[in-house]
Amino acid sequence: MSSSPFIIVAIDGGAASGKSSTSRAISERFNLLHVDTGSFYRAVTAELLARGVATGDQTAVKSAVALLTLSTRVIGRSAFMEIGGQVVPEARIRSAEVTAAVSHFAAIPELRAALLAYQRGQVDVARKNNFRGLVMEGRDIGSVIFPDADFRFFLHADPEERARRRAQQGQPDQIAERDRLDSQRKTAPLVLPSGATGIDSTYLTLEQVVEKISATLAARMNRHHDQLDMEPLYGVCHYILRQFYETFFRGEAIGLENIPSDGGFMIASNHASHLDPPVVGSLFSRQVCFFARKTLWKPGFATWWLNSVGTIPVDRDGGTDVTAIKRVLGALKKEKVIILFPEGTRSPDGKLQAAKPGVGLLACRTGVPVVPARIFGSFKAFGKDGKLRLGTPITVVFGQPLQPSEYDDPSVGKERYLLASQRIMAAISKLELPAPVIV
Ligand code: DC
Repeated sequence: MSSSPFIIVAIDGGAASGKSSTSRAISERFNLLHVDTGSFYRAVTAELLARGVATGDQTAVKSAVALLTLSTRVIGRSAFMEIGGQVVPEARIRSAEVTAAVSHFAAIPELRAALLAYQRGQVDVARKNNFRGLVMEGRDIGSVIFPDADFRFFLHADPEERARRRAQQGQPDQIAERDRLDSQRKTAPLVLPSGATGIDSTYLTLEQVVEKISATLAARMNRHHDQLDMEPLYGVCHYILRQFYETFFRGEAIGLENIPSDGGFMIASNHASHLDPPVVGSLFSRQVCFFARKTLWKPGFATWWLNSVGTIPVDRDGGTDVTAIKRVLGALKKEKVIILFPEGTRSPDGKLQAAKPGVGLLACRTGVPVVPARIFGSFKAFGKDGKLRLGTPITVVFGQPLQPSEYDDPSVGKERYLLASQRIMAAISKLELPAPVIV
């Protein structure tokens, strides 16, 4: 089993420093739960204002806060605070009234203390929802909430640039005043914590900031990917196949940073060649589970081999095979990676085919993240015509994992599994080869 830890990324910075857009992009790229703690302070502020609590009355704030029932709703990749079971509407928490009051409430130690456990509790929310970790933005994440976070960043930008960004968003904001209050308060002030990486974004685009942070994260994660985690026989075959893929088909993979480094998940790939399963499998440093048609279990070497590398036998129309479903559930419980081909069979012409419901059923029943993968070149290298063309480049592009909320819609009834498969297939079809770099 993989021993990679849950990842916590802290991104602090002043108002309009670019935290939110950056955090959102990082959450997408690395399958992390996005937690905007500023929105938590805003939601509580909106609630206190609605209850007529004044910022100056610390006793009233303390008792009002103690009465709040806080929970979290995950929508897409973001965590939203619920107060009394209701998410406070965005329009309300971004209103001028809340923006003007939030820093005053946020300076009250009792309010901060009440939110501390709630913010740390987002780790459980992220784990329950199968995220690989979380990216939390705020003012004191790297200093107080998660001083031991795996990655801590601090964004800053010149005040004029930040004022320009806010104006562009059309939101009235007293950036300088909020920063003054946030930096000067006694409890958990806005500071660049020692050991955190400071990034000045004044002259950087959002993409450049995201690239900087991604490069740091990916470097660490790829180090983890380098540690092999597999049984000996599988390991030997894996090594041979990897050399084979690199030598004869260039062995190129794009988007490896999208692959969760731990927990169970599925890879859903297009299928155009017998080369696809070993090619995709050779890119993983973890042992992956494959499916194969039951009819391949012929007495002798084939059966020994398929069982030895943990292949799951499945009926041709895998979706209704109860034993196969049970084995998938068992494998995912053991945090294995499963490779599936939503089209069911190899493409006759190299083009993408329609998805069958089987993969959707397995995904919906297991509720795991699904990483879309698109293989380019395998049809040309060894397609249905059966001719092996060594030297043909084969490239695998991995996309960002789809969460159950993105592929599963239980309300559609009978069509649920087919729809899930189609959504997964749509994510595969969106993956492209990067444009060639001209030098
Ligand atoms: O990120 P934001 O501008 O939406 O945050 C609103 C206010 O919440 C900010 O002015 C200060 C406060 N806040 C805080 O004190 N600590 C955090 N971790 C996040 C926000």
